[in-house]
Amino acid sequence: MTFEEIERRFADNVIANYARQPICIVRGAGSRVWDSGGRSYLDLFPGWGVGGLGHCHPGIVAAIQAQAAKLIHVANHFYSEEQGAFAEAIVSRAPGFKVFFCNSGAEANEAAIKLARLSHQPKFGIVAMERSFHGRTLGAVSATGHPEYRKGFEPTVPGFAYAKMNDVDSVKELVDDKTCAIMVEPVQGEGGVIPATREFLEGLRGICDQHGLALIFDEVQTAPCRLGAWFGYQRYGVTPDILTAAKAIAGGMPMAAMLAKPELSGFLKPGTHGSTFGGHSLGCAAGVAAFKIMAEEDIIGNVITLGAWLDGKLAGLSGNPRVKATRRAGFMVGIELDIPGADVVSDCRDNGLLINCTHRTVLRLLPALNSKQAELEEGLAILSSALDRAAERDGAG
Ligand SMILES: Cc1ncc(COP(=O)(O)O)c(C=O)c1O
Repeated sequence: MTFEEIERRFADNVIANYARQPICIVRGAGSRVWDSGGRSYLDLFPGWGVGGLGHCHPGIVAAIQAQAAKLIHVANHFYSEEQGAFAEAIVSRAPGFKVFFCNSGAEANEAAIKLARLSHQPKFGIVAMERSFHGRTLGAVSATGHPEYRKGFEPTVPGFAYAKMNDVDSVKELVDDKTCAIMVEPVQGEGGVIPATREFLEGLRGICDQHGLALIFDEVQTAPCRLGAWFGYQRYGVTPDILTAAKAIAGGMPMAAMLAKPELSGFLKPGTHGSTFGGHSLGCAAGVAAFKIMAEEDIIGNVITLGAWLDGKLAGLSGNPRVKATRRAGFMVGIELDIPGADVVSDCRDNGLLINCTHRTVLRLLPALNSKQAELEEGLAILSSALDRAAERDGAG
């Protein structure tokens, strides 16, 4: 099938709610993918952050194949060996929590919002952050602190207020006698790679302790391992009451988890919340394999070592006149431009590199956590040339 035929099939049959790049990815291995014309690309944004172990890690493929031949899905009114094993793998890395499984980041955040409300009745208010992103379901998009995502879906779920990231006073101002929780991403990804400061998260912990609120960390993008610790909260030394994780937790399978402290998790009793696919056997088997591989391959060590090395490389890019700022937290990289980034993304793609642009002007990389230095070096060289061309185009080179 030619690309034009594939494109036509989409035009005829698929709702056009995504801006798609003009290539069809047919195969992946590690940090490389191939398109339908046989061309290969270095993928430094695998699966919007899902590809924590790159594409088709052999250990994940083997786990999925073995599990698929045994049992794909079993409903949650039975016990499942795989679900128990995956929960144990997660809790052994996040002691003191218990796990509820679902299928996407937004669903994990829905569970977190519902649990915060359920456990603090009749309080229902949640203070979230400006520029945050928590997903597209109605509750998650209501928590999302960017009006553009909510536009057209009003009235959204009531009770959300938006404070300024890294400004404890602006959070304090919004907490009232109806507030049940504070919700924050340790590093805002979609918002442009904006890390929380340690003081800010400590301040939020203090407010929650003082007023009896639940502190919710949305770690859909930052866990596991992306910040150089199993969970981002461990990097900050601030423990939330509820944590959500998705994207890379199960080697590419649609899988998500809400973790909650026992004081809160006890409120979720039979009949309060659930999910047909949540914790399905195939995804859990992949998740068990993913956690094992991340430990065996010392993914955390790789993120810490290559993260520090990346800083020097990013400093090099800062010399480009179009680059306003560079930001890095673990393996989350944001390069803020003073021009829209779409042309740079296209230029990179045409030269064999896949990256992303968020908030119009922030180029974003979420490399596989097992990336090799040579791969990052290759990608940054392509990016650097694309930025040079952008500077020339805009007459500033
Ligand atoms: C921090 C954060 N929360 C939630 C979501 C939503 O996850 P999903 O698209 O799996 O629903 C995302 C997705 O990018 C995210 O980055």
